[in-house]
Amino acid sequence: MEEKLRELQTEAEAALQAAATEQQLDEIRARYLGRKGAVRQIRQSISGLPEEERPLVGQACNKLQKTLEKLVAARQDALAEGQDDAAAAGETLDVTLPGRTPRIGRKHPLTQTLEDAVSIFLGLGFSVAEGPEVENYHYGFEALNYPADHPAMDEQMTFYIGENTLLRSQTSTVQIRVMEGQEPPVRVVVPGRCFRRDTVDATHCHTFYQIEGLLVDEGVTMADLRGTLEAFAQGMYGEQTHVRFRPDFFPFTEPSAEFALSCTMCGGEGCRVCSDTGYLEIGGCGMVDPNVLRNVGYDPEKYTGFAFGFGIERIAMLRHGIDDIRLFYSGDMRFLAQF
Ligand code: DAH
Repeated sequence: MEEKLRELQTEAEAALQAAATEQQLDEIRARYLGRKGAVRQIRQSISGLPEEERPLVGQACNKLQKTLEKLVAARQDALAEGQDDAAAAGETLDVTLPGRTPRIGRKHPLTQTLEDAVSIFLGLGFSVAEGPEVENYHYGFEALNYPADHPAMDEQMTFYIGENTLLRSQTSTVQIRVMEGQEPPVRVVVPGRCFRRDTVDATHCHTFYQIEGLLVDEGVTMADLRGTLEAFAQGMYGEQTHVRFRPDFFPFTEPSAEFALSCTMCGGEGCRVCSDTGYLEIGGCGMVDPNVLRNVGYDPEKYTGFAFGFGIERIAMLRHGIDDIRLFYSGDMRFLAQF
């Protein structure tokens, strides 16, 4: 009988050692220690043994029962710990990994240039005005003194949304809205988006930005215009920059001029950027046409004024050495991240 008990213990120990799950452990427990388990069966057989053997076998059974209970408990602990380890292994946190840097946004290069331009004009005493991108014929052309057959009104240049509704092709439209809304003195700059039916290439885009300037007061001369534009040019590109005026035509100014800057790349000596001319054409300007003043109810005998307008893309391209306007609208982070 003692032999049998020893065999049972060896067998149980091996089984416990091999138990890999709680379920297997429960089965083993039932097999050896359960109500119908091996130990119990031996106990039940004790009554059939010779009298003198009974107490010895009884004690051996108790001992075996205790031993197995301890082994089961120990195995249970080992399994639980193993499970924790396995779970921990599944969700490792490697604190030595470098963090992910969040991408920090910044202003678009066009916005930066636009804001810098506006800020120069604010310093000169101008304030900022805005107007609608969707305009009507009156503000778009008529009140700006365009004769009825001017080519700028062709659909070639302007997007018409309806018979009388169009996307503004220049910020000059806002001149009229500002003057209609107030009496002189007027001193505004108008940054804004414009649209033209232009074929997209390295220097043209159907959607672009302009900044318009308008100053109306008593005794304003073309010298004031020139001084203002030169102050802008020097604020943007440096003290060495100067302005060149050449005669031009715009319906809403008389006289009108095209204004150019001494080349920001070569300083006027001639280079690839200025096509060896030493100058960069920037925009249009002139003295506000008396007809325009009359259109908004100002007395042209009392007031004179100047106006100017130019594209922001060109200013930004010269500033940063960008040779293709399309880059501004590409949304390409490799380009944008440089500014
Ligand atoms: N609006 C003109 C254009 O888009 C630029 C311009 C010329 C604006 C003369 C002016 C001006 O205010 O006086 O080509």
